[in-house]
Amino acid sequence: MSSTINLNLPLSAYEIAISPSGLDKLGDYMNALQLGQKVLLVSNSTVFEHYGERALSSLNAAGFDVCRCILPDGEQHKNLDSIQKIYDTALENRIERSSTMVALGGGVIGDMTGFAAATWLRGIKFVQVPTSLLAMVDASIGGKTGVNHPQGKNLIGAFHQPRLVLIDPEVLKTLPERELRAGMAEVIKYGVIWDADLFAEMEKCKNLDQMQYLMAPFSDQESLVDYILTRSCQAKADVVSKDEKEAGLRATLNYGHTIAHAVESLTGYSVVNHGEAVAIGMVAAGEIAAKLGMWQVEEVQRQNALIEKAGLPIKLPAGLDIAEIIESLQLDKKVKAGKVRFILPTQIGAVTISDQVPSEVIREVLQNM
Ligand code: NAD
Ligand code: GLY
Repeated sequence: MSSTINLNLPLSAYEIAISPSGLDKLGDYMNALQLGQKVLLVSNSTVFEHYGERALSSLNAAGFDVCRCILPDGEQHKNLDSIQKIYDTALENRIERSSTMVALGGGVIGDMTGFAAATWLRGIKFVQVPTSLLAMVDASIGGKTGVNHPQGKNLIGAFHQPRLVLIDPEVLKTLPERELRAGMAEVIKYGVIWDADLFAEMEKCKNLDQMQYLMAPFSDQESLVDYILTRSCQAKADVVSKDEKEAGLRATLNYGHTIAHAVESLTGYSVVNHGEAVAIGMVAAGEIAAKLGMWQVEEVQRQNALIEKAGLPIKLPAGLDIAEIIESLQLDKKVKAGKVRFILPTQIGAVTISDQVPSEVIREVLQNM
């Protein structure tokens, strides 16, 4: 089932189009936006092998003049060296102010392409074609772009909104199940911070970690994945439209991310993926909220049960030093005047922001994980 969510911001407005076989219509979607003739397609070797030719054919058929930059796959390549490769390709192919970059891939490719587009010639247009569940429900929407610093996740970046987010749910058929589960972590996040109905619907589902189950009918008109995509993209669009540059509300989208980012960077971005780290971070934040008397223990248990049902971890990876995690929290982008800010649930569907979490509480919670 096709659907469209509109994201209206003061200086830009764009569609999040959820469109089965939409990849084959990429060129038509871009023509409708009257984008310039030259396109730089950025992807990684894995995704390009699956979907590159289809994206290229659609763009060529619609009259675009396309060059490409295919980067190595993996979070460890989300760095300035990869951005340099995109700039080199842009230079060689004379990518101009009127040109467009297209991100075909998961969140890593989306964030890097967006950052390259934000900075090349002081900013050119870009389009997101997310291919992982995580990128479809979260990373491709809202204009946060950037790369990692060796000592901290996403420390280098810019806000730069795409002209279009085109989601083709059918490409999820080739997504490894571990990556599907990673995307479910962000979907569960929306349930906890914003959409109690989405949370309750997921609690009723049996096999949240299996693609076959996600593709099965959910109602007369849609599959479970259609439902999950629509509700999650709507949640993200609602939050971003109210607070584009994270003056307040948008920080709630970082639920679970404070500890997640520390876990990811301390394990060299290679032991747990982003979604798994977010799952661990949500468990920690939930336990902190319960210890501070802000969230009922039964609701924390419902959250943790849903995370486990989605096949996600609820324990810290072995060998991590708790003191190092706590030290690394200081590098979080949400730190203000040296105080770490946590997003803490107060009930399913609602969260609050607190910079009053004592280090002893964080330590105790992490020691129990
Ligand atoms: P990813 O981009 O590394 O993709 C995960 C894996 O799936 C990769 O190996 C990729 O090649 C593969 N893949 C993607 N689509 C596929 C498909 N259809 N078929 C087969 N394989 C496919 O990781 P991710 O989970 O998509 O994104 C994580 C990144 O997103 C992190 O860097 C995170 O910081 C960022 N992020 C950004 C935002 C934001 O608002 N900008 C929000 C959340 C996450
Ligand atoms: N994923 C966090 C945000 O977009 O703000």
